[in-house]
Amino acid sequence: MHPAISLGIDLGTSELKTVLMDGTGTVRGQASVRIDTSRPHPGWSEQSPQDWWAACVNALAQLRAGWPQDYARIACIGLSGQMHGAVLLDSNDNVIRPAILWNDARAEAEAASLARDYPAYADVTGSLPMAGLTAPKLLWLQTHEPAAFAAIACLLSPKDYLRLRLTGNKVTDMSDAAGTLWLDEAARDWYAPMLAACGLVPEQMPALAEGDAATGTVPAAVADQLGLPMDVVVAAGGGDNPVSAVGIGAVNGGDSFISLGTSAAIVSVTETPLGNPAGGVHSFCHALPGRWYAMGAILSGASCLRWATGVLGQPDEATLLALVESAVPLDTAIAPSAPLFLPYLSGERTPHNDPQVRGAFLQLGHDSTPAQLGYAVLEGVAFALRDAMAAVTSTGAVVPHCMLVGGGARSQYWAQLLANVLGREMRTLHNSELSASLGAAKLGFAAIGDASLLTQGLPIKNTFLPDAAHSAALSIRYGRYRSLFPAVQALHQLSDKE
Ligand code: XUL
Repeated sequence: MHPAISLGIDLGTSELKTVLMDGTGTVRGQASVRIDTSRPHPGWSEQSPQDWWAACVNALAQLRAGWPQDYARIACIGLSGQMHGAVLLDSNDNVIRPAILWNDARAEAEAASLARDYPAYADVTGSLPMAGLTAPKLLWLQTHEPAAFAAIACLLSPKDYLRLRLTGNKVTDMSDAAGTLWLDEAARDWYAPMLAACGLVPEQMPALAEGDAATGTVPAAVADQLGLPMDVVVAAGGGDNPVSAVGIGAVNGGDSFISLGTSAAIVSVTETPLGNPAGGVHSFCHALPGRWYAMGAILSGASCLRWATGVLGQPDEATLLALVESAVPLDTAIAPSAPLFLPYLSGERTPHNDPQVRGAFLQLGHDSTPAQLGYAVLEGVAFALRDAMAAVTSTGAVVPHCMLVGGGARSQYWAQLLANVLGREMRTLHNSELSASLGAAKLGFAAIGDASLLTQGLPIKNTFLPDAAHSAALSIRYGRYRSLFPAVQALHQLSDKE
């Protein structure tokens, strides 16, 4: 066992989470700090990089106060973070404007124009241009904020801003670089034609490193401020989905998982880059060398449950879940005519690539209850994941069974429903809500030469087998669900013209 402690930092969208991990992979301490998002216009989503740093300093102070002996043994740091955000730095490394986040829809027209003008690039970059990814955002800035655009000396992904503050170095890793759409996925290098399509050059990009490589050490002045030991090494780390994969040991081809957080994703690790044979799928670099993954990304996951809890006037999500569980038991078949929910509360990526489409409840009657609507919400997210799973497997990626991570994994009912809807075994894991910060801590250890934890999984909590008795009823409802998409899409296309 390595005597050192690794600090894993995951810069999420709603929270920055940190863990102190020892050389056996055991969590010795953890702290988190909430982060606010500002929505200055409908469809916009921004955060201040300075707030991320403040949250990081705050979380580290909590760790230092709570676990002083472990904190004093920190030898390495790994970083994970929300993907696709654009952090703009000027030539003095000052932040030019708030970061535009992954769930910001303003660059829809720019995404469409990149797709139209450069159709061959998706195979190189691993994804169709989509409003949430970084590249279209920069095209938007070029037109709408030309002064900010002209001042850009370097562009970072969110977690790389924390690295800049920790080490002074401007470096990103392959997995976050992949999410910008400026990376040649197979070559694992910047793709100059796509940068040029956005008015940028490779010199404005940070240096590239594999997720398990060292990217610098924390200098004395910063170590003093944070109370860290000297010479702490900072690993490159990666985007939250690939780093979560490392956290749960999903590092080999066919290892698959569903992440059910604010957004949701179905991820399958691959040993070759798959390009973008199926629209709407991301085939991106993993956070480990020589590995890639295929991902279907759903923009609203467990956030649908949070939303439904509020609009149905329930005190908390657990109360709504308990209502659903008692009124809609999973061992009785659900009626085809029961309420349906389309979970497109903030548009959709896989497979529809439509940031403007919105969600809907359908098949409502005077007899519809909060419990039935709650059920429809859980089922609607599961159906969206079924769409995403079909897109992922159409690339050739395989999904034999899925581990389940993220806040949504706390509900056994939802896990069983996912098994039934997806026809796959679901496995919940102990500590999975920490998967991204655990993965970050493991990458930290790898950067100081101890790669032994990279393949270590998390202990299984429960397994949920698909219940074939209900697959027919669910398939009828899934068919209805699918048939509704053109209607909601037509609706927003109408309202756009009015
Ligand atoms: C992945 C994605 C989200 C963000 C935020 O493509 O957009 O999962 O990384 O967590």
